Amino acid sequence: MPRGQLILIEGLDRSGKSTQASLLVSKLGHASSSSSPPCSSKLLKFPDRTTPIGKLINEYLTNKEFQLDDQAAHLLFLANRWELNQEIHNLLNQGCFVVLDRYIYSGIAYTLAKNNLDDSEANTSISRGKKSSNLASVDWLLGPDKGLPKPDLTMFLTLDLEEISKRKGWGNERYELQQFQAKVKRCFLQILNSNQDKSIEILDVGEKSIEEVTNQLWDVIVSHNANTLTEKPIEYI
Ligand code: ADP
Ligand code: TMP
Ligand code: MG
Repeated sequence: MPRGQLILIEGLDRSGKSTQASLLVSKLGHASSSSSPPCSSKLLKFPDRTTPIGKLINEYLTNKEFQLDDQAAHLLFLANRWELNQEIHNLLNQGCFVVLDRYIYSGIAYTLAKNNLDDSEANTSISRGKKSSNLASVDWLLGPDKGLPKPDLTMFLTLDLEEISKRKGWGNERYELQQFQAKVKRCFLQILNSNQDKSIEILDVGEKSIEEVTNQLWDVIVSHNANTLTEKPIEYI
């Protein structure tokens, strides 16, 4: 039986990921309705703040007084992805499209960005614990993600930090500081450009309306045939 495809939307905080991910799930629902699987498309968000580990992560992100070593924080985000591993497999194998709002690339980029904090950032809530070469090693950061399903298509939304910082909700959570986000952006681009993976698309969504971005993403999805069920086996990270 053909399976659904795994589509990942990545990007900086407030780049429009969650908005686009929900719109995409409805669009994919219509696209696949003729095959009538038990579910046509489902949105999964990382971190999933509802699981036991996700609740801890939520505390870490929203309570700047909550202190956690950088490596421990990194491993919690990672464990949270493994909590949903079986569900992702079940959905794909039932012929359901799965749209991910963040995944492994966020995992690497945010931790990697903690390596070169300026003095003004070093004593803030962003980073904590004894500095370790682990935090600079993509192999270490990615290691335990190996074995998770690899997205069939990854779309990274990029735009100017100026534009992002004017958006609603900016500044509420731990990592939402413009100086730090600039580093996160560089780390994302470094990782995403490094492996020349054809399933990764970097998309400039600056100065575009929500509808324009939806159309832009849909064109990319269609060009990758990511809106149709597939016989390809699931790939792994
Ligand atoms: P993210 O999930 O990446 O943090 P959201 O989808 O929650 O971002 O969007 C953050 C805010 O920006 C929301 O208030 C949303 O309505 C708004 N927004 C999203 N996309 C656009 C856009 N293309 N133009 C203007 N505002 C947008
Ligand atoms: P969000 O729920 O608004 O997408 O925010 C989640 C925050 O968690 C965001 O600042 C990015 C961060 N994050 C990590 O640091 N590591 C991860 O593995 C993931 C998935 C998110
Ligand atoms: Mg979001």
